[in-house]
Amino acid sequence: MMKPLMAALAALCIIASAQKTAHAASTEVNYQTYCWQCHGMKGNGKGVNTPSMAIQPRDHSDATGMKGIPDAQLFKAIKEGGLAVSKSGLMPAWAATLSDDEIKALVQHLRKLCNCKEGT
Ligand code: HEC
Repeated sequence: MMKPLMAALAALCIIASAQKTAHAASTEVNYQTYCWQCHGMKGNGKGVNTPSMAIQPRDHSDATGMKGIPDAQLFKAIKEGGLAVSKSGLMPAWAATLSDDEIKALVQHLRKLCNCKEGT
């Protein structure tokens, strides 16, 4: 009775640790694992989820919109979710999935996608 359960738990642990290695590997992989469904593979805000979403995701490739958002707000939105920055709760919080360093790297990745800096 217990054995299949233990085997299942062991399998889960292997999957969990494999995922940890995977998302430590590359920021781009993180983006294409956790963000693309809504923000799109290229970050243009046109992910597969968007037809059914009442609030559309931010277009991360739009320099005009993105330069108005300070890095600290991008970080907070990713870590604590849209509601933490007075935006839609459709933007999930990632604190449980991603480390602060991974989130910082994602902020840098967004700056590459928009080819912009905060305020410029
Ligand atoms: C389930 C859909 C969904 C997923 C998955 C998602 N987002 Fe979002 N995101 C949104 C929506 C919707 C908004 C727009 C919220 C608004 O404008 O009210 C948003 C907004 C943002 C913003 C802008 C916040 C601001 O201050 O304007 C950032 C930055 C962001 N997302 C980053 C990410 C990153 C990085 C990931 C992956 C780790 C991610 N998002 C995954 C839906 C999603």
